[in-house]
Amino acid sequence: MDAKDKLIVALDVENANQALKLFDSLHDSVGMFKIGIQLFTAAGPEIVQQIVSRGGRVFLDLKYHDIPNTVAMAAIEATRLGVSLFNIHAAGGHEMMKRTANAVAEVATRENLAKPKVLAVTLLTSIDQETLNQIGIDDVPKIAVGRLAKLARESGLNGVVASAQEIEIISESVSQPDFLIVTPGIRSATDAAHDQRRTMTAGEAIRAGADYLVIGRPILEAADPVRAAQDFVNEIDEALRTTAGQSEFAEQSRSQSVQ
Ligand code: C5P
Repeated sequence: MDAKDKLIVALDVENANQALKLFDSLHDSVGMFKIGIQLFTAAGPEIVQQIVSRGGRVFLDLKYHDIPNTVAMAAIEATRLGVSLFNIHAAGGHEMMKRTANAVAEVATRENLAKPKVLAVTLLTSIDQETLNQIGIDDVPKIAVGRLAKLARESGLNGVVASAQEIEIISESVSQPDFLIVTPGIRSATDAAHDQRRTMTAGEAIRAGADYLVIGRPILEAADPVRAAQDFVNEIDEALRTTAGQSEFAEQSRSQSVQ
């Protein structure tokens, strides 16, 4: 996978025109576009179809959370829209996640569609200890994140959305290397943090083990969004080279120690 394929731009804008303008200018520089509740509420499934029909890959970030049958039915429609990734709340439980994963696999086979990857939202990064206690969970956030990630994997999901600080606990809780970690909250040293509390740079998140990075305002609000996106891609590329170098080195040392 190229560095650019790992960059997902969050199309957090208020209408289809703005979204399509950004899509057209960034399509060659980034791998995927995230459509969340703001744009979807304003522009509906048509904006997803338009981007997909122009050759864009879409992460549909609607965080479904409902009874198992309802989420599974919504997941079938997301598959029919042609999205590459979408997400559901792990707090919906094993049955909700399992039925969703099965429904996606079945409809993709039956209707000859590409099968999207289904991601779990473990805990929203805005949830702190106090909020967890309010809803009756006594664990510290890190423990809850690890447990929900493991449950998502056991329920057949393909990965999680997780802040860079949670990558370690997720890798410890789920050992499968193909379990995807999609990470928002990315900022360069010179970017404003906005409402993100704990940020990491793109390079740090990739080195920590993120598979995809979701970046919104540092690109959308840049004087030159294309340039900003390319700078992030270069940073991802450099981090991939150093991690590849490290794994090669680790591999060599392992095989030398085995001989
Ligand atoms: O503008 P910024 O780079 O902060 O955008 C990050 C995107 O990722 C937003 O669309 C936000 O909703 C989303 N997100 C997040 N933190 C999560 C899950 C999703 O920032 N835990």
